[in-house]
Amino acid sequence: MSKNPIGIFDSGIGGLTIAHAIKIKLPNESLIYFGDTKHLPYGEKSEQAIKDYSLKIADFLKNNNCKAIIIACNSASSAAYYHIKKNINSIPIYNVIDPIVSFISKKYFNKKIGVIGTKATIQSGVYKRKLSEKETTLEIASLETPLLAPMIEEGFFNQEISSTIIKNYLNDKKLDKIDALVLACTHYPLIQNEIKSFYNKIDVIDASEIVAEHIKKELSKLKLLNQANNPKFNFIISNFTESFSKSANIFFKENISLEEKDIWKSN
Ligand code: DGL
Repeated sequence: MSKNPIGIFDSGIGGLTIAHAIKIKLPNESLIYFGDTKHLPYGEKSEQAIKDYSLKIADFLKNNNCKAIIIACNSASSAAYYHIKKNINSIPIYNVIDPIVSFISKKYFNKKIGVIGTKATIQSGVYKRKLSEKETTLEIASLETPLLAPMIEEGFFNQEISSTIIKNYLNDKKLDKIDALVLACTHYPLIQNEIKSFYNKIDVIDASEIVAEHIKKELSKLKLLNQANNPKFNFIISNFTESFSKSANIFFKENISLEEKDIWKSN
């Protein structure tokens, strides 16, 4: 058992969808959330830049006594997971991709799986590679959808303009006849309903719950879960704006206050 917090980070506030799922699944756990709003979008950055930012944040979380770190961002999970693991081996590090890969490879056989995400995630080819390794009968169709994360962050969802952009992407030939679609970006749970209403009856796979369930199992195996019931929450972003503050409440599904800390300045 450990009362220390779980560290969670993302390029911005999208990872709050994962943080919220963790809070529901593991209500006794304290959380430190870090959103790197100073450097987002990660989806448009080079692999090296994402590695550098992510390792700095992971170090910050480790130095703040986190007992585990969750990379709640697909772009950072695809570019920086192994880099962080190589550099920090005193606490467990989790990404948001492996739990999804494991879920899909157990559930689907001989099917076509669509994956949508940022440029960084899709161009890394990580879903295609990991899914094909685990289940060779799957056909993977990946599509970059770079407008979606900024659109959601600006509050455009469940309205005509967002539906038009979403439809435009989902009509891409690459995604023809898919059996399931992976929302490979932690922003996308907010447009899940719009995506579901585009399709008749394919599975739309949202990572949040699957990741939270995976973390629960893993921390339980390592005997790292907290039994006491007095969790504390810290929400930190590297650059504060009113707009992030407003959107954060929507992503976390409750009112939270964000503290600004530029961990790059202190060095
Ligand atoms: N939340 C990030 C992800 O899951 C996307 C946002 C960004 O590009 O920074 O990939």
